[in-house]
Amino acid sequence: MSDTTDLRNKHGKDATDDETNHACSPHPNPLPQAGEGANESLREPHVNRHIRSFVLRQGRVSNAQQRCYDTLMPQYGISYSAQLLDLDAAFGRSAPRILEIGFGMGETTAAIARAHPQNDYLAIEVHTPGVGSLLKQIGETGLANIRILQHDAVEVLRDMIPDNALDGVHIFFPDPWHKTRHNKRRLIQAPFIAQLVQKLKPGGYIHVATDWQDYAEQVLAVLSTEPLLENTAAGYAPRPAYRLLTKFEQRGIRLGHGVWDLVFRRK
Ligand SMILES: C[S@@+](CC[C@H](N)C(=O)[O-])C[C@H]1O[C@@H](n2cnc3c(N)ncnc32)[C@H](O)[C@@H]1O
Repeated sequence: MSDTTDLRNKHGKDATDDETNHACSPHPNPLPQAGEGANESLREPHVNRHIRSFVLRQGRVSNAQQRCYDTLMPQYGISYSAQLLDLDAAFGRSAPRILEIGFGMGETTAAIARAHPQNDYLAIEVHTPGVGSLLKQIGETGLANIRILQHDAVEVLRDMIPDNALDGVHIFFPDPWHKTRHNKRRLIQAPFIAQLVQKLKPGGYIHVATDWQDYAEQVLAVLSTEPLLENTAAGYAPRPAYRLLTKFEQRGIRLGHGVWDLVFRRK
């Protein structure tokens, strides 16, 4: 995460962590073995260097997260590779596909996936504690409709996601990189959105939420100027019901902080 002091950085702590082991036994009905050692690719030198929207921190991985990582990542993880991903094969079925970029500790991802078993969720995050945390939730609840890719989403999108493949994209509380000299690290910039739009099916949506007003304004400007997108609202959108309020957001709202949702569709 960036060096911001916004509310979302408090997500760094693992609200769901405990030291129980029962959650991490391999799922009895695993879908195709997706990959292993998914975070190794983050350490490799990069051929096509770009400004990254994250800083790779060490972060504490709890014992429970590590156990879940070791046992479940081979089933639910997809290794980065510079070739197009067969999403039907990765999920073991054909279903509406939602991509999430930067899931943090994965509470929202797990809640949405649980509430929408008819959809598949491809969840991208770079930080190992968050990946371990989401795997732990998968283990505890038996969720079968999430796959995890631990790699820079910019490269995943560029190299692995086929055009016209996605029904939706969730980007919840992207690092705001609030200092002006860091603004260039913000994920949501016109060239990235132009590429992202190509991955959406016609009618597919991009949903961004942020609690940083200046970033909200940038996102609104970038999405509004992308010719293949149309806004579903007049400006900012009401929060869609599927995006549940986290306790951090509830606290922020109590303190008078704003949250802005933006929902655009591909024409
Ligand atoms: C501020 S946190 C928000 C986490 C979560 N969406 C939430 O609402 O709590 C932003 C997350 O995006 C991840 N992230 C930033 N850039 C990324 C990228 N290019 N690829 C994958 N993950 C990224 C960071 O590691 C961080 O966990």
